[in-house]
Amino acid sequence: MANIIAVYSIKGGVGKTSLAFNLAAVSAMCAGHRTLLWDLDAQGSASFLCDEKGHGRAAKAIFDREVAPAKLITASPWPKLDMLGADPSLRAVERLLLDAAKPKRLLKILQDLLPLYDHIILDCPPGLSELSDQVFKAADLLIAPVLPTPLGLRALDQMTSYLAERGGKGPDVMPVISMLDTRKSLHRAFLADHPDWPAIPQASSVEQMAVKRAPVQVFARTSRPAEVMRAIWDAVEGRLQVDAKAERQKALRGRPRIPSPSRSSQARD
Ligand SMILES: Nc1ncnc2c1ncn2[C@@H]1O[C@H](COP(=O)(O)OP(=O)(O)OP(=O)(O)O)[C@@H](O)[C@H]1O
Ligand SMILES: [Mg+2]
Repeated sequence: MANIIAVYSIKGGVGKTSLAFNLAAVSAMCAGHRTLLWDLDAQGSASFLCDEKGHGRAAKAIFDREVAPAKLITASPWPKLDMLGADPSLRAVERLLLDAAKPKRLLKILQDLLPLYDHIILDCPPGLSELSDQVFKAADLLIAPVLPTPLGLRALDQMTSYLAERGGKGPDVMPVISMLDTRKSLHRAFLADHPDWPAIPQASSVEQMAVKRAPVQVFARTSRPAEVMRAIWDAVEGRLQVDAKAERQKALRGRPRIPSPSRSSQARD
């Protein structure tokens, strides 16, 4: 069963797509996991990076439940990495989710895909919306790229406050410093204040992905960003294993009294 990993920030242009694409590539190509990258953003940036051609169906059809989700999947040029692409039709998804009053539509679609993959990575659009609420319900782990600036940190704080206000067990949040430029004193001070957060450097190789239409693992494997992406993926896997262990222990503790489904399968019903 796949883990669901969302790359999300309230803020736009902070490196979500670049990170989601690279992590999906590391998961598939370096770790050998069956990986699906789902582009949830009508801009279709991740689809562009993957050169995703689609099946001639509007990306929104998956949310209309007009078509089985697996039918819209395309293989990427790289082993073990599949893609669910985006196009401008996704602009209508917000209204659809609200009108249909289907607060678990995203989760239900993901349920169909869970058995097919080890990891499903969601490249999310920025902003708080019904779609982001549904992402928060579905994700096991939320990776939040943070610009190393006061406004970058503010966006993270806004998100964590929002998750706290919603209550319940929200996803585990993993902040990642994005576009770090250590020539800037502000960035250096930010890094010193958050020494435990992984940091992706500002680097032309990351920008080059949109020219080469490939992840840094493919054309700049020994670069610092490629190394950092691999380290972030290791940290992600570590977090997911810790979570899975905690779930197992919880299930074992509960077992003598009432035989009940595990928490994760309850959440997905
Ligand atoms: N580490 C980096 N170094 C240099 N440029 C970067 C880095 N990360 C992202 N970029 C560049 O910053 C821009 C925005 O990146 P990206 O599209 O990944 O952000 P995003 O958060 O997904 O944006 P949006 O909110 O519009 O979806 C792109 O031009 C990308 O190439
Ligand atoms: Mg993006």
